Formats: sequence, structure tokens, C-alpha cells
Amino acid sequence: MAAESAAGHATGHGTGNGTGNDTGSAVNLGTPAVPGARSSGPGATTPRPDNPALIDTFGRVATDLRVSLTDKCNLRCSYCMPAEGLEWMPGDQVLSDDELVRLMDIAVGRLGVTDIRLTGGEPLLRPNLEELVARITSLEPRPRLSMTTNGIGFAKRAGAFAEAGLNRINVSLDSVNPETFERITRRDRLRHVLDGLAAAREAGLEPVKINAVLIRGENDHEATSLLRFALENGYHLRFIEQMPLDAQHGWDRANMITATEILDLLSTEFTLTPSPAERGGAPAERWLVDGGPAEVGVIPSVTRPFCAACERTRLTADGAVRSCLFSNDETDLRMLLRGGASDEDIANVWRDTMWGKLAGHEINEAGFAQPLRPMSSIGG
Ligand code: 5AD
Ligand code: SF4
Repeated sequence: MAAESAAGHATGHGTGNGTGNDTGSAVNLGTPAVPGARSSGPGATTPRPDNPALIDTFGRVATDLRVSLTDKCNLRCSYCMPAEGLEWMPGDQVLSDDELVRLMDIAVGRLGVTDIRLTGGEPLLRPNLEELVARITSLEPRPRLSMTTNGIGFAKRAGAFAEAGLNRINVSLDSVNPETFERITRRDRLRHVLDGLAAAREAGLEPVKINAVLIRGENDHEATSLLRFALENGYHLRFIEQMPLDAQHGWDRANMITATEILDLLSTEFTLTPSPAERGGAPAERWLVDGGPAEVGVIPSVTRPFCAACERTRLTADGAVRSCLFSNDETDLRMLLRGGASDEDIANVWRDTMWGKLAGHEINEAGFAQPLRPMSSIGG
């Protein structure tokens, strides 16, 4: 087991920005959300306090669990994976439904997780997903359950998912132009995604959110048409800055479309004013469109990181807990599950992992190294 030990991360004093129990003794580099150095908090060398929740040394509490159900996908988005796909996880390493439900039960019953998001790869490729959803929404206390999906095949299943207790979905959609969609995803499936979106709305899985990534020269000229489409259909659109998480390691800072640029593109056609809504721990900066009430969100993951407000913990399809998308190490729970560990043993290892959570991603630091796992195997 490659358990992250809190002490193992102690590379010095926190250089935090005032979050949680940071003493603020070190240099503030002026970044609003992320400390300048990737270090553990000042408490990392001290034992984890006796607290049932998923706390870390910066005072954050993880209540939002992202669960990747499979690393497979039926699209091949060029910013995510190569045309030929990837070497998928061996089936015997993928957690069974029973194992997943047990871990989610530990998360909500012992660790204070209140929200669960199912992701992939593409979660709809997981067999019998409606049944799994029903089992998750029967857990006590009942978590709020959402899913990030590419929407393909959802049209026929939306009613069953709503019935099983799914609360919401986020659909990934980078273009409503069939040619652009096919160029980016390498598949001619736009119609299926649009049908999936409409079915989600009809099934009451609202608000239906759309996640879009803009790629220079591919779909950046379509930012306004995506927003127009979302407004016309009552979907909530959020643009996400592209992060260095592609399997091909082709991300290029100089080429990425920044949040500022996204807002400039949208402003050519719409008037954007800051939304008065509380942002809380949510990553999206929200803007009223043409005076509201409709809004658009921008998630500035790279240029204005929100790590200081992060409430997330992550579980991969092969049973690894990660404290961050960008963690370089992770903790294998599968071996514990299959080795007869008790629920409380597993809960404690999970707590230890989160106690070692670093201040933030290091994308803006010299020497940043992309995590070994690509996005499709961690989950968005
Ligand atoms: N950067 C930002 N978002 C990404 N997604 C996939 N890869 C990246 C990346 N490198 C998005 C997908 C989907 C969600 C899971 O994350 O478009 O909406
Ligand atoms: Fe599939 Fe999502 Fe990757 Fe596109 S971004 S290939 S939909 S996992």
C-alpha cells in the first residue's frame, strides 16, 4: 500500500495564504488561492487529531467525494486521450459494485461526506449503473448524488436514473457544431449528447449543467454559440480552463485559453456582470448574462486556482484514494478491502491520506510535474 503519510510531505513550513490553521509565518507570494510552495501545512508533522471528518492541515474539510467508475470512454477528446485510446485498467483491478458501495458507505457514514459525484472515463459505460445509483442513494445519511457524463446513451436512461435517485448531471460538451464536435471528440455523436441533455431536463435532473473546454483553433470561436445554445435551452454552462491532465502530455500553458480570454470572447456578444450569488467552496466564478437571471460560469483552475476552498476527496475505479487531482501519490484501498480490513481501519487510512493533502496544485510553479494518471482515470 502506498499510503501517503502526512510526515512524508513535510517539506518545510506552510507558505499558506491564511487558510485554516496556517500561521502565516512565511512569504505570501500574492497568489489569491494557492500558496507558493507545494508543502504540507504546519501541522503535517504532528499527529492527525482525533476527528472523524476528512480534515487536512490547512483547515479544509472534504465533504465532496468524486468516484471514477471506469477509465474507459466512448469518445476520444483530443485534449484527453489519443485516437487509439489508452491501455484500460485490468478488470480484476476495477472495484466491484459491492466494494464501491462499501467505500461510499464508509464515506457518508463515518467520514462526513455529503455529496458524491460519479465520473469516469465515461460512467455510463459501467454495467448496471442504475442499480448502483439506487444503492448509493439508499445509504444513510443519504448523499446528494450527481454524475459527470458525456451524455451518450443517457436519453433512454434518464427516467430510470431519476427514479433511482440521481439528483443532477453535468454533461461535457465543447461544441454544438457537428463538424467541430467530431473533430474534437473524433466521433460523430453530437446528436446523442444533445438528446441526452434534453432527456435529463425532461426527467427533472436539474439544473442540467454543461462543462466546456475551449481549445485554441478548435472551438474558441464557438464560445458564444455554446452560450447561446445553453441560454435557449435552460442549461447552465461553465467553461473550464484546460488543465495539464491529458494522457499525451500535450498541454501547453502558452496555448491554453485563460478565464480572462474566455470572458473577453463571451463579451463580444453578451454583457457579463458578476453574479451576486455566494461562491462558497464552488470552483466556478459566476457571471450574470445580459443582466440575468441567466448565468455563465468560468472555472479558472489554472490562472486563479481555488485550492484553498477545496472540499474534494477522490476515489479511482481501481480503489485508490487521492486527496487532489494533481496528487503524485495515492492510497490503495483495494488491497485493504480485499484483505479483510474493518470499516474503521479503512476510514482511518482515508483520513490519513486527506490529512496529508497539499496546499494546492503546482501548475504555476517551476518544476511542476503532471500526475502519472490522466484525467480519464482520475475522474473530473
Ligand atoms: N482540463 C480541463 N477539463 C478537462 N476535462 C477533461 N480533460 C480536461 C482537462 N485537461 C473535462 C471534460 C469533462 C470533465 C470531466 O473534465 O471536458 O467535462
Ligand atoms: Fe471521454 Fe471525457 Fe476524455 Fe472526452 S474528456 S475522451 S468524454 S473521458
